[in-house]
Amino acid sequence: MPAGNVILVGFMGAGKSVCGRLLARRLGRCFVETDDMIVARDGRPIAEIFRQDGEDTFRRLEAEAVEALRLKSGGVIATGGGLPCREGRMDALRELGTVVWLRGDLADLLARASRTGARPMLIVRTPDEVEALYRAREPYYARAHLTVDTAGLGIDQVVARVLGRLRDSHAARV
Ligand code: S3P
Repeated sequence: MPAGNVILVGFMGAGKSVCGRLLARRLGRCFVETDDMIVARDGRPIAEIFRQDGEDTFRRLEAEAVEALRLKSGGVIATGGGLPCREGRMDALRELGTVVWLRGDLADLLARASRTGARPMLIVRTPDEVEALYRAREPYYARAHLTVDTAGLGIDQVVARVLGRLRDSHAARV
């Protein structure tokens, strides 16, 4: 039985942080980001963890964050873009609550990602490699309970759509 969290997944630039924060406010819930949990625990910014210790170390820290979230209920959780994309990860996330994929158009996602902070997974890749990464990740995201298309929507519209889908899905379960 899900622990009542709402978990946002999606590629970099999907708006998980900003949408998650607003969603939490609208629902009167706590908001937590897996990237923030990792930074708080490790003491280094994400980019530095990647630079000094490599991606594998970061993915291990993500696994620890998911483990720690098993104690949490009733929150809104924004995950890093690569967090769901490991064997067994979507199963673990689905056990934490309702998983929502914020699906967007790749060009829009990348435009937003490049405006909002350094992303180690993007700086070392050509556009073709980024697209391949996105395509490889889609099947993981697609295992979310709910998929919300965000193309062409402003953040308030995305939040409204997520809230509507959550209400519909809870109503369907009653
Ligand atoms: C990553 C996405 C980032 C962050 C890290 C790795 C990825 O989070 O976790 O840089 O592999 O896609 P955002 O999705 O919030 O950018």
